[in-house]
This record gives sequence, C-alpha cells and structure tokens, in this order.
Amino acid sequence: MNRSLFHAFTVCVLLLASPLALAAPALIPAPAKLQAGDGAFVVDARTPVHAEGAAARAVAERFVEYVARTRDLNLHIASKRANGGIVFAIDRKASSNPEGYSLQADRNGVIVKAPDARGLFYGAITLWQLLEAGSDNALHVPAVRIDDAPRFGWRGLMLDSARHFQTIEEIKQLIDAMALHKLNVFHWHLTDDQGWRIEIKRYPKLTEIGGCRVPAGDAGIGADGKPHQYCGYYTQEQIRDVVRYAAERQITVVPEIDVPGHATAAIAAYPELGISGQALSVGNDWGVYPNLFKPDDATMTFLENVLTEVIALFPGRYIHIGGDEAVKDQWQASAQVQARMRALGVRDETQLQAWMIARLNHFLEAHQRRLIGWDEILDGDLPADATVMSWRGIEGGIAAARGGHDAVMTPSNLLYLNRPQSDLPNEPPSHPGTTTLRHIYDYEPVPATLAPKQRRHIIGVQANLWTEHVRTFARVQHMLFPRLAAVAEIAWSPAERKDYRDFLTRLPAQLPRYRQLGIAYAETPFQVWIDGAGDIPDDKVSITLSNPSGYEDIRYTTDGSAPTAQSQRYTEPFVLKLPAEVKAAVFVAEQAVVAASARDFDPVSLRTRGNAMLASCNGEAMLRIEDDGPREGERAIFGADILNPCWLWPKADLRGIAAIEVRAGRLPYNFQLAHDEAKRKFQPAASPAGELEIRAGCDGEVLGRARLPARPGADGFATLKLPLPLRKQVAAQDVCIVFTGDTRPAMWVVDRVTLLPGKRAATRRAR
Ligand code: ACM
Repeated sequence: MNRSLFHAFTVCVLLLASPLALAAPALIPAPAKLQAGDGAFVVDARTPVHAEGAAARAVAERFVEYVARTRDLNLHIASKRANGGIVFAIDRKASSNPEGYSLQADRNGVIVKAPDARGLFYGAITLWQLLEAGSDNALHVPAVRIDDAPRFGWRGLMLDSARHFQTIEEIKQLIDAMALHKLNVFHWHLTDDQGWRIEIKRYPKLTEIGGCRVPAGDAGIGADGKPHQYCGYYTQEQIRDVVRYAAERQITVVPEIDVPGHATAAIAAYPELGISGQALSVGNDWGVYPNLFKPDDATMTFLENVLTEVIALFPGRYIHIGGDEAVKDQWQASAQVQARMRALGVRDETQLQAWMIARLNHFLEAHQRRLIGWDEILDGDLPADATVMSWRGIEGGIAAARGGHDAVMTPSNLLYLNRPQSDLPNEPPSHPGTTTLRHIYDYEPVPATLAPKQRRHIIGVQANLWTEHVRTFARVQHMLFPRLAAVAEIAWSPAERKDYRDFLTRLPAQLPRYRQLGIAYAETPFQVWIDGAGDIPDDKVSITLSNPSGYEDIRYTTDGSAPTAQSQRYTEPFVLKLPAEVKAAVFVAEQAVVAASARDFDPVSLRTRGNAMLASCNGEAMLRIEDDGPREGERAIFGADILNPCWLWPKADLRGIAAIEVRAGRLPYNFQLAHDEAKRKFQPAASPAGELEIRAGCDGEVLGRARLPARPGADGFATLKLPLPLRKQVAAQDVCIVFTGDTRPAMWVVDRVTLLPGKRAATRRAR
C-alpha cells in the first residue's frame, strides 16, 4: 500500500459539511488512529474473503454472516489467498493489545490483522461499518489505514431481566448490538425482588414460584377477574445458548445473583431463606424491599449450591453477587440474626453483610472465579481481590482503587440508561434525571483525583438498564440506542480522540446500521423541541427551537410543509401570529436526521399543559410512571413525585382566566420506600376521597378546592373544573396542583391542566 496516499486524520465537522472535503469514515466507536486515503475497494459477490487459521476463519464467517444479514450481499470464504480480496489474519505483531487490530484498505483489497480472535473480530466490525454504498450501487470500502485498540478492558452493558423479562431472541439481538459497539461484557441481572429468572435445577421453586408475580393494579387482573400473572425465566439450555452466542461475538456474560437484599422472589419460593420464615409474595412494588436473606449456614449452603450451577453455566471469570441496597432493619430486629452476629464475632449488620460477601468470595475463588459487587460491598471489610462496581456516583470507584480493588465505573447519574435521554414530552416511562448523549460522552471514567498508580484499577465502564419502568423490548431499545454509541466511545476510544461535535457528525451514520440490525433506536435525541411562549391578548407566540443533543443545524417551516435543507435555518427565537403551525428538523450533511417535529399553537393549546410540561413542586426531576392498564397496548404516562403529589405550572398567565380544569389520572401506589418513607409528604384530606387544590405557589394560598371522586371514570380519568378568584388574574402566577389525602393505596396524578378564559376574554377573542 502506498502510504503517501494517506492523509492524517484531521477531518473536522466543518470540512464534512463540504462535499469537496475528504470525509473520514463515520466509525463508532472512533478508532485510536485513522488515516484516510484516496479511492475505495469495491466489494461484490465475487470478492473473496480469505482467513488465515481457524481463529481467523471463525471471524471471517461472522463477518460474512453480518454482511449477508444487513447488506444483502453473499460473500464467500476462499481457501486460497487471492489478490483483490478481503483477508483476515492472526498476526502477533499487529497490536500490543490482544483486543487491538490493524486494518488497511486500498483499491486492491482489505487486510485485517490482529494478535488474536478478539482484535480480529473488532477489525471485522470496523470493516462492516466501513462498507458504504457507492454511487454505482456497489459496496465500497474507502481507502484507509486504521490502528486500533480499546481504552478499557471492561466495556459493559447491564440488563435487568428480573423486573421485566426479555426473550432469548431479544437478548441475542442486544448481544449483536453490543458487538456492533465493540462492547464486551454483558452483565445479566437475573434475580431480584420481583422475579427470579434463572433455572436452578436443585431449587425448582425459584423459577416456578419466584419467576411469576401478579402486577400491581389493573395489569394484575385477568379478563376473568382473577389474578393475572407476569412470568418468565431462562432455562439452563437457553442460558448456555446465550453464553455461546455472546462468546462468538467476543462478549462475556457476567451473571448477577443479588445477595443479601433484592431477595424477595427467592424467599417467596423458599420462605426458610428469609428472616421470618413466613410465606411472602413475589414483589410487585418498585423500590427497596426490606427482605434479606437469613445469614445462617443453611442459606449460605443454598447460595453456594446456586452459585455451583451458575458457575457451570457461565464460563467467564466474574460472578456478580449484588450487595446493593440491603436495608438492615430485619437483621436488626431479629434475635436469631443478632445471636448469629455474636457467634461470628461481627460488630454490626454491615460487617455481617461483609462476612457473607467474604464467604461467597472464598467459595468463588475456590472455583477459580472472581467476585464483583455493587459499591456497598466496600462498606464492610472486603477481600482484596473483589472487584467493585461504582454506581452511587464515582466515590465507590475512587475508594476501591485507593484500597487496591479493581473497579468498574457505572455512576447512576451518567450511565443509568433507565433515565430519559431528553426533556422532550414523548420520552417513555423512566427514572428521574435526564441523561443526554452529551452527559454520557463528556464523562471521563478515570477519576482525576486518583494517583497514577491507582488509575490502573479502573478497569472499565458500564451502562446499566434497570427495567422497573421499561416494560417492553421496544422501550429497552429506545433507552439503549443511540446512547450506547456514546457509551462505546467512552469505553473504547482514547481520551484524546474524544470530540463531541465530531461524534454528533458521525452518529447519523450509525442509524442505518441500527435499522439493518432491526434495532428500534430512540429518535428523541435528534428531534426538535418547539417551545412557544404565548402572549394571548396580543394573538402572538414567541417560538424557541432546540435539540437535546446540541445539533445546531435546525431548519423550520411555518406553512405546514416538511422542512428541507433549504428551509429557514433557526438562529434565534421568532414571533408568529396565532394560530401558528411550526415544523422543524435537525439536518446533518443536508439530510434531516429524523422526521420533523410539529406543533400547533392557538389560544387553547397555549392555555393547556400536559403532564410532561409541568414541573415538580420541589424543582427536581420526576419519575415517569406508566398507568396500570390496559394490560396490553398503550398506557398513559405521568410524571410524578411519589413523595409529594404536587405539580407546578410556573408563571402561568392568568389574565382573563376565570376557571381551571384539571384532568387527573390514578395509579396504584406500588413503591417500597424503605428509609425514604419519612420523606413522604401529603396534606391531610378534609373529605373521604380527598381534594384537588389549586394553590398560588406550592406552599401558597389556596385559590380553589374541589372534592375528588372516590374513583376515576371508566376511561381512567376524572375531570374537575374550579373557578378562580378574579383578583388573582395576573400575568405570571405560579400555579400548583395538589391532591390531598394519603397516596396509598392509589395516587391521583395530573394528566392535563387547562386555563379557561372568562366571558369577557372569550368575547374579546371572538371579535
Ligand atoms: C443499583 O442501582 N441498585 C445497583
């Protein structure tokens, strides 16, 4: 290959916008080193794929399979190396990192080399990403030289299959998507309060009983009026199949068996494992249950027997034993557990948990495995070779590294993908706190406070998806993609290659790859938020356009047509006369990345706020909760602060407003709050079913009050209309909507608020 053909990788966002510029291939994650060349290698059905050695052949087969599946091209593996083909070769000198590889493409062919099958596989993924349709409709590989290796050895994704269950086909699809992102650890959360999902032959009731729950509310009532169960578990055969499928894609599966908390499903199956010995139901609440395993010898033997079967199924080095969120109230209250602590000579319940972890660590070590657990395992004495997963921020990772433990960074504020990825109103149910692409991308996993010698203990990063509020696989995909692309980049690409604007420019190329793999990614990171501030008496609305990811080329129309690259470019807020219609889309390289967003404005829409456009009264992000029915199909989604049923419309324009209409929904209150119980705040009710109150500010004067019905109507909603006192008709009034009464067993939530003008204002508008 003629090296002089290559240009250093200096292509930037500005150059990419120009058709004359040399565009570097849009690879994700960005490779460590890339030099773009001139010309391209044309790939068609005659192109031979040659593999040198058995390990290379397995990679070549996977490559051919991906190309056939996604690019409608059947390549063949040639036994002899030919000129003008694709070659996969094991070459010890190709990289100093076993996961590294080199890839050279020119007009004559492509050579991918790596020291072992891992790196070669990543080279194959890069090559798959490089295949682009040329103007002749053939597939092209642009001339390029890539020398690449990952930054971190642990590039993880955790999926919670306990709260909601995914099928084996869905798990395999995720594994394919992980491979596309060069992620290599699939952390599988298999047991929790709400479900035990792994078949353990010795304890069949774990899945027979622990694998089913009756969901809260209407979702748990069948058509016949009887309890309707939500069930699911993976057989050992299915798990072996997943482990094999993952290994073929260089992904290790790390199973999690959560100990000593998150144990309700196991205790429901075998009550003797719990503190009271009493029968329990598998949990259908979300939050933190008080149920802990009983730390006696029989339970430890049970756990070791479970781990024996787990070890036989999962050949990887690490076994995750949880350790998180184990509130110790039951241990503190139990005379038996207190006696056990005295007998063991442990000084408190934290050390008792540490004793359990140390015993399991010893057991795993004896079976040549390593223990990993959530950062609470640092709270007691932790065996030196245990690895810590830092989730309550980064402090756990820092403490672990300082103490000589390896750590995987997965801070919940940045890498929990169960949080929404934008503030747009169309995000699905999710935990509070928005985590955008940018939040993830800007995260630097190695804490700057660590001394250089301690930094090597940060072995990687991981994104986690907890599924309490992620009921369907469509939503799993929405939460993971495209954010996994940002995760991949912080896990794989060298820190000095990080460039968020460049990432944004490359990301649209990832979307057709997702579509080829059948992945339903979220469009919200590419959508436009069309905000309108109304000046209704003057028949005007001021429009502000923004994109949650920071894409800057926003084009819009006001005539109902779909925006094109030639439409008006948004630069600053603009004023329209009512009624108005705005359509807007993000453009990259003159293409709309996703379909345009649209919003209509008129006096009624400006006086109406749906739930997603209200704030919480404490100023913090809200949980987005799904209604409990219907059992199948679309359900309403409500943002709610479950500790304080109060919603705020900041600075509402009350001029000319005579009444306020609130449409309220009702949810089962299925939350276990543990030690947060004391934070639950509600106003006492004055009538049997409580009241709806409209207040001037969250703790302000009551502007209106109406009795709530005992239950909502057949559609699940109750609509209440309250007059507003005339003297409150000002232009900027914080309006709070509060429900009095206990939130248990069911909670009223605001679905929609509409301000209704008085006769005079309405007549003025009609003129
Ligand atoms: C966790 O989020 N409970 C580890």
